[in-house]
Amino acid sequence: MKIRFTLNGEAREMETDERRRVIDLLREDLTMTGTKEGCGTGECGACTILVNSESRLACLMVAPQLDGAEVMTIEGLARNGELHPLQKAFIEYGAIQCGFCTPGMVMASLDLLTRNPSPTEAEIREGISGNLCRCTGYQKIVEAVSAAASARKLGGRP
Ligand code: FES
Ligand code: FES
Repeated sequence: MKIRFTLNGEAREMETDERRRVIDLLREDLTMTGTKEGCGTGECGACTILVNSESRLACLMVAPQLDGAEVMTIEGLARNGELHPLQKAFIEYGAIQCGFCTPGMVMASLDLLTRNPSPTEAEIREGISGNLCRCTGYQKIVEAVSAAASARKLGGRP
């Protein structure tokens, strides 16, 4: 089947199998390898992407669900060679160790900050509760998201 969608702001049209998982379509067919596959069963959040500005799990979606949608992956966040404020905050606050969970964490956090620009610590923890990290103990991730939210209040983009 043919599907058309926007990927990180660029129009895409492709022929694909209707059973093709979105994570495979992104990573293998479109070489967008920033999105990671951890569990493959909807448990870890590593594959989180934004579809029509809402966080979704790419391992649980199939190609037809992208038809007509606006899709954003971690590759779409940097602009003009500059990292997104959330990405910068993750680096600055040491919220990355192995980095495997990071793209999914950043996308889930972006979804949270879009819906709730000034989250409490509890709300941040709730917002990333579907994303597992084996390395950081979460505290540094929470601090990074909180710092990015504060920076946004001072005029940074979400
Ligand atoms: S790989 Fe999709 S939730 Fe784990
Ligand atoms: S930084 Fe390694 S899993 Fe989160």
